[in-house]
Parts: sequence; C-alpha cells; structure tokens
Amino acid sequence: MASHELDPRTVLVAGGCGYIGSHMVRMLRDQGLQPVVIDNLSTGHADAVQAQELHRGDIGDLPFVRGVLRQTRPACVMHFAAASLVGESTVNPSKYWRNNLSQTLGLLDAMVEAGIQTFIFSSTAAVYGTPHTTPIDESHPCRPINPYGHSKLAVEYLLEDYGQVHGIRSITLRYFNAAGAHPDGSLGERHQPETHLIPLVLQVASGRRDAIARYGSHHATPDGSCVRDYIHVQDLCAAHLLALRRLTAGGQTDTYNLGTGQGHSVNEVIAAARRVTGHPIPVRDDPPRIGDPPVLVADAQRARRALGWAPLYPGLDSILAHAWQWECHARVDQAA
Ligand SMILES: NC(=O)c1ccc[n+]([C@@H]2O[C@H](COP(=O)([O-])OP(=O)(O)OC[C@H]3O[C@@H](n4cnc5c(N)ncnc54)[C@H](O)[C@@H]3O)[C@@H](O)[C@H]2O)c1
Repeated sequence: MASHELDPRTVLVAGGCGYIGSHMVRMLRDQGLQPVVIDNLSTGHADAVQAQELHRGDIGDLPFVRGVLRQTRPACVMHFAAASLVGESTVNPSKYWRNNLSQTLGLLDAMVEAGIQTFIFSSTAAVYGTPHTTPIDESHPCRPINPYGHSKLAVEYLLEDYGQVHGIRSITLRYFNAAGAHPDGSLGERHQPETHLIPLVLQVASGRRDAIARYGSHHATPDGSCVRDYIHVQDLCAAHLLALRRLTAGGQTDTYNLGTGQGHSVNEVIAAARRVTGHPIPVRDDPPRIGDPPVLVADAQRARRALGWAPLYPGLDSILAHAWQWECHARVDQAA
C-alpha cells in the first residue's frame, strides 16, 4: 500500500474504550477488520481494548489525530466519543458544546486533511426532545430539550455541511436506550457515575446498591412508570457494521433510528431483573425528573429496510441475562 492510500480494513473508533465503542472494537476485530482507537479515557477504560489498538488522546487535538491518521490510514471513522450525561449537560453546557461539538469539528478537519470520506456518528433519541407521536420515526421534528441533545443535533448539521463541501458521506445512528453486555461476559457497561436503569437495577441485585429509584409512578403510561426502548449493545454494533458496508459500497449520507420498536416500562425492567437474578430488588419512589418524556420508543423500520438490520436480541430477558453476567463479573473484580 502506498503511504497516501487508505486501508479499507482499518476503522478508526473514536471513543473505543467506552461502553458501546469497546463492543464495536471487539466486533470489528472478530470480523477480521482492524480497529484503531482514539480515546482520552475521560469515561472509558484502557483495558476494554487491546493495548496496541489504543492511541490515548483527545479527538480535538489536531496534531495528535493527524499523527494517528497518518500512521494507521483508516478508510472510515466511527465516532462514539462524547460526554453523555443529560443531567450534567443542563448545569455545565460548556462541557457538552466543547467536547461533543468543537472536538468533533477537530476530528472532522483531520479527516478532511487525510482524505477520509466516510463517517458513522453515534447520535441519540435526545435530538427529538419530547415526542409528539410514538413510535418516533426519523421525520419527527428535532427539538432537543437539553444541551446534550443540542450538541448531538449540532453535529448532525455539521455533517450535512461537511458532506456538501468536503464530500464526507456519513451515516448518523440515533440510538434509543443502549443496554446489555457481550454475550461471553467479558465486556459490559462501566459508567461512572452510572445513570442507566439496567445496570443500576442489577447493582441492586448484586448488593452494590440498596434499592432502585423509580422516578415517578403516575406517568401517562399503562403502569405509570416511564417506558423506554432498550436496544442490545451487540445489535447497535451490528448496525454500525452494516452502515460501514453501505458506505464502503458508495452509499450516501443518511440518518437511522436504532431501537427495537418495543417499549418496556421501568416496572417491567425491574420484574425482568427479578426473574433473571432471583433477587427481590427493592424499589424506592422518587419524584419524576423534569424533562423525562413518559414514552420513548423508536420506529426503526428505515434502518431495517435500508441497512437490512434486524436486532438479534430484541427481548428484555437476553439483555438482562447478558448484563447480569457482566455485573457478576464486575462484582467479583471489585471484591478482588
Ligand atoms: N449509552 C446509551 O444509551 C447511548 C444512547 C444514545 C447515544 N449514545 C451515544 O453513544 C456514544 C457512546 O456512548 P457510551 O455509553 O459508550 O459512552 P461512554 O462514556 O462509555 O464512552 C465514550 C468514550 O469516549 C471517550 N471520549 C469522550 N470524549 C472524548 C474526547 N474528546 N476525545 C477522546 N475520547 C473521548 C470516553 O473516554 C469514553 O471512552 C456517545 O456518543 C453517546 O452520546 C449512547
């Protein structure tokens, strides 16, 4: 390969030491592709990837990113790196605009310089704000209600502009609630602080927490608790692989929701966790959180049609079983 050529087997995974990124790195490796990770370890874990894959640094550090791109010549960038705590974004919007938008701008500029033309972006259901229909398809208006959602939508606009001016073809994937862990139990969710329902419920079952907080039990839903669309992390990563194939085959810029289309209430998640773990899981009732929509469920038909994507693990029980396996492993690690 001449030094200026891109390597079609190499994929840069920005944020590859995080929860979803590390599963992606594993899946790329399992497919015989070559993942290269850039991560500043702000929330990620170096041991989630192989040491030789990791380039530790910030996606917004242009000289650093230039160096990595020059050395590894990836043909595509998958961009998972972001700050993603909704609550924190409402009190520290600057962190979100800087990390999620400005640093992404740096990454895109380095890509343009290196001649890399394909990009897969981790967006979020938070770009829709409070939905006025359910399930939500991609034509639903985007009106985020917090700085996290704003910063993600801003990147979507940025990608439109870089597509028109610099020819970058991108696939934006708007995830609903990522959940679950690698089926072999070796990778899983390790956020600090943890804010996601499924790992929190399982931490109660494993004895790391006393009770699970239920934020509001009088929402406009069948059982009064909030309903969300939980999508297995392996299914999210599989959609990225399909997006990669589509872009490699010359596919054009597009945006897809990723969810199962099935909503599950907080009470249903707790019941499923009791089933899977055999633990009673005490519940504590807390006031509803401001800006928490009662129901967020994806219409992901577009991804199914265009990418040929179908979730392998659409049910709550396999998501919980895999996450429980991971939680048992994490509890043993903590005790060691
Ligand atoms: N987890 C979910 O349910 C969910 C839902 C919707 C969207 N998303 C999006 O998916 C992506 C991955 O989410 P996650 O749950 O794996 O998060 P995570 O915090 O586990 O992973 C993010 C990774 O990016 C790294 N990172 C952050 N900023 C960086 C920077 N400026 N330079 C280099 N590395 C940086 C972190 O160290 C971490 O390893 C995020 O963009 C998030 O907004 C996640």
